[in-house]
Amino acid sequence: MDELKQHWKGGPVVLKRQKSIAKDGYTILTEGGKSTITASTDAGLMYGAFHLLRLQQMGADVDHLNISEKPAYDLRILNHWDNPNGTVERGFAGRSIFLNPDAQRLLIYARANASVGINGTVLNNVNAKPEALSTESLQKAKYIADLLRPYGIHVYLSVNFASPIKLGGLATADPLDKSVVAWWKKKVAEIYQLIPDFGGFLVKANSEGEPGPCDFGRTHADGANMLADVLKKHGGIVMWRAFVYNPQSSDRAKQAYEEFMPLDGQFRSNVIIQIKNGPVDFQPREPYSPLFTSMQKTPMMVEFQITQEYLGAANHLVFLAPMWQEFFDYVKPGQVKAMAGVANIGDDTNWCGHHFAQANWYAFGRLAWNPTLKSETIADEWLRQTFTNDNRMVKPMTKVMTESREAAVNYMMPLGLHHIFAGGHHYGPEPWYAPAGVRRDWTPPYYHRADAEGLGFDRTSKGTNAVEQYPQPLSTQLNDIATCPEIFLTWFHHVPWTYKMRSGRTFWDELCHKYDQGVQEARQFLATWDAMQPYVDKQRFDEVQHKLRIQARDAVWWRDACLLYFQTFSQLPIPADMEHPVHNLDEMKKYSIRITMYENPPYGYTK
Ligand code: GCU
Repeated sequence: MDELKQHWKGGPVVLKRQKSIAKDGYTILTEGGKSTITASTDAGLMYGAFHLLRLQQMGADVDHLNISEKPAYDLRILNHWDNPNGTVERGFAGRSIFLNPDAQRLLIYARANASVGINGTVLNNVNAKPEALSTESLQKAKYIADLLRPYGIHVYLSVNFASPIKLGGLATADPLDKSVVAWWKKKVAEIYQLIPDFGGFLVKANSEGEPGPCDFGRTHADGANMLADVLKKHGGIVMWRAFVYNPQSSDRAKQAYEEFMPLDGQFRSNVIIQIKNGPVDFQPREPYSPLFTSMQKTPMMVEFQITQEYLGAANHLVFLAPMWQEFFDYVKPGQVKAMAGVANIGDDTNWCGHHFAQANWYAFGRLAWNPTLKSETIADEWLRQTFTNDNRMVKPMTKVMTESREAAVNYMMPLGLHHIFAGGHHYGPEPWYAPAGVRRDWTPPYYHRADAEGLGFDRTSKGTNAVEQYPQPLSTQLNDIATCPEIFLTWFHHVPWTYKMRSGRTFWDELCHKYDQGVQEARQFLATWDAMQPYVDKQRFDEVQHKLRIQARDAVWWRDACLLYFQTFSQLPIPADMEHPVHNLDEMKKYSIRITMYENPPYGYTK
């Protein structure tokens, strides 16, 4: 009612209860100038109200509505990677909004989330510090939960599996140890006393050095089930991450599957396995994680990354809806139970560092509500609400947004390339990075495998056989270089430099053209934006233009660094019919930016 009273400019609106309508769902019927929103819950009525406001802001017809909506998933949740000291891991928009929670700002945060249907938020980093469960930090979580509750948003916490030792002073965190279970019971009771509608825990265990049940000779299922049993009577859930890999394996892309498939069916009903969309790690393009089509008896949720860790941080305009849609081209929405998104939110005035990065937060919410929505529709909605209803801006910028992800793939990692980022950060290219002593699976050559013959990771039956983890007929299709989609070519195959592509070009020539195409696209985005000046206020126009210039320069950085480096293996010329590199490889190798994992680079390639 508050939202409508303050923002609705149309005729009278009646809010009505009706038990038969699905949780969070609603109908809107407009007749004779009067609108009726019907829902079974408060949340449903609120989502209906936001739907009306969205249409109003988009300048849509609100006089003849007959709408019936319900979300695809009950749980539509943000994962903040916020640390207790206020830094945000892979956060490119300032510091944590939860460090010194500001009621005004959190109200805006709650409304923004609710307006796109997001109904849960994990307040802290998956690399969780034990103090996340200290009484002091629980008090803070309570304060935040109280502010978010009116907007239907439940609060969750990431927990450190060794908390009983590190926070509780116990000698072990073995999930089958009675004193450990007792510790968790007491802690969970304390949480629910403060936050009666607390949602549950998110756990990163035995991954990248984090503690977990395997440290005590137990399985992921033992660990998850213990926490699930403790949370059960309070109605809480456990989101247990499947992001695991170790340096000994022959293929990082296979590991989550290898570790979790044997546990299928062993998890309690209030455990959901949270799986990143791809089998490696939020790359510009990955095939889907094969767990999604293989686990049959365990509820799963997909974890997308909204923050652009591997997609130009808060400097590049990369609209992620097409990437998430691509995932749903392979994994039917019904195969997962929930959707999580690693948030790109910080205390920057514009929330996400780049004005257009807000579109990814928006798109995440809209797709978690309805994963079949088209990217164009979401971009169009967002542009109209954020900038203007003038089609002279909406049309060209919808095109920019929907093409931007493919452009980023082109100038960063086309044709299945992945993880060829710099050693110290995930912003720029360093395909050559492989210092002695660094874990092989943390260096680009592990992934691209460039040599005199060709480029790419052989994951076919003759290689690591990762293709076997995919169902038929997809597995056979991926296994054969002639039928593997070219967008995944070097993900699954070691491709000879002279291999004939569908375009008729050799693989090397195609690679060169893809990189250059990405550069041309990035420049075109800038040119399109330059023509938007009449429709945008000066501040936002200048800020976006500044970022698009960085992006266009970075695209050249990527193209030149990668092509000049791969050329040392292919020994083939850059095709005559494209723009040639304007840098030298030595020069590129010397260039580095110093950046921590907690900040946005103020610039990319500047030389
Ligand atoms: C990536 C990322 C880390 C993060 C990890 C995870 O590896 O670089 O910062 O902690 O994913 O998702 O757990």
